[in-house]
Amino acid sequence: ATERTLSIIKPDATKRNLTGKIAAKFEEAGLRIVASKRILLTKEQAGKFYAVHAERPFFGELTEFMASGPVVVQVLEGEGAIAKNREVMGATNPADAAPGTIRAEFAESVGENSVHGSDAPDAAAEEIAFFFSGLELVG
Ligand code: CMP
Repeated sequence: ATERTLSIIKPDATKRNLTGKIAAKFEEAGLRIVASKRILLTKEQAGKFYAVHAERPFFGELTEFMASGPVVVQVLEGEGAIAKNREVMGATNPADAAPGTIRAEFAESVGENSVHGSDAPDAAAEEIAFFFSGLELVG
C-alpha cells in the first residue's frame, strides 16, 4: 500500500552539505518528497520528539546533538515507504549498515548517523503530525 513516513536529515549531514545527496537516495529508491523544511530544533523539542527514548542512557547526548544544527524534516511517500526508507538508510550503527546505504556512505557514528526514519505506521503518523499540518503535505 502507499504509505507516508517521516524522515529527518540530521545535523551531522546538514553541516557537511549532504542534504541533496541524501534526498537523491530517497528519490532514486522511488520515494517522493511530499513535504520538506529546514529547521533548528531546541533541545526541549528534540526531547519531545524522541520521548520514547527518554530513559535511555544516550538521551541527553541524542537531544543535544539534534539541537546542534539545522535538520531537514521530510515526509516521504510511496509503496511500502516505511520499510523502503529504512532499507535506504541502512542499520542504525553505520558499522553495521549495508554498502550503498545512506548510513554506510555518510554516517559518522551510531549517534551522528545522518538520518532518522519512522519505524512503524503508528510512529510515522505521530511523527509526521509532530512537524507538519495536513496542508503542508502535497502529494
Ligand atoms: P534514530 O533512528 O534517530 O532513533 C534514535 C536514535 O538514537 C538513533 O537513531 C541513534 O542516532 C541514537 N542512538 C542509538 N543508540 C545510541 C547510542 N548507543 N549512543 C548514542 N546515540 C544512540
